[in-house]
Amino acid sequence: MIQLSGWATILMSLGVCLLFIMQHLTRRHKPCRTKSLSWESILVTHERQWREVPTMRTKKMDEDSSVEISNKKEDNGPVCIGREDDVKKQRTTAIINDREILVFYHDGKFYAMDCRCYHAGGPLHLGEIEDINGQACITCPWHKYKITLATGEGLYQAINPREPSVTPKWRSKGVKQRTHHVTVDNGNIYVTLSDMSDSIDSDYYAEMYKKTINSSMKK
Ligand code: FES
Repeated sequence: MIQLSGWATILMSLGVCLLFIMQHLTRRHKPCRTKSLSWESILVTHERQWREVPTMRTKKMDEDSSVEISNKKEDNGPVCIGREDDVKKQRTTAIINDREILVFYHDGKFYAMDCRCYHAGGPLHLGEIEDINGQACITCPWHKYKITLATGEGLYQAINPREPSVTPKWRSKGVKQRTHHVTVDNGNIYVTLSDMSDSIDSDYYAEMYKKTINSSMKK
């Protein structure tokens, strides 16, 4: 009897131990909601962020790339945009064929060009005018690109590594900004849009803002 009760005690102790171990294991492997949720949420948030950023970018690029550059010839006659005296006093912007045109007077001459900078659509009507190598240029207020008033060429400073010099030289990137023709008749200023058969960099932003102009006119 004594032996049996000894065995019973051992068996009971083993049972208690087993129960304890089982309980412990169950508790350990029980999913910890807070922890697993928080990690999941962090992962999901990160994943979402990684997904969203490119999605937004792609969307924007798609929207941008949906801007078509129209080379259609539109009604191209001279358009009166104001009085000579007024334009002499201050720069004027005019909408001609839904295109935003900047017209201004500088050093005895009238100039007209697309109002949105060829680089990223900066507002050229807010740019300073300066002389660079004898050429009057407008400096875009956004990233300081220089554009000649007469031809719309983009200028940049360069150093030829074969002829090192302390002072960089101004060079032309070619015509980047579309310029237009200005005439004066009887005290009025007329602008004739340039021939659109060739594509020029500033056309992209002129077309993009055309959409904005059209949608704001519909409101
Ligand atoms: S937008 Fe004009 S310089 Fe960048």
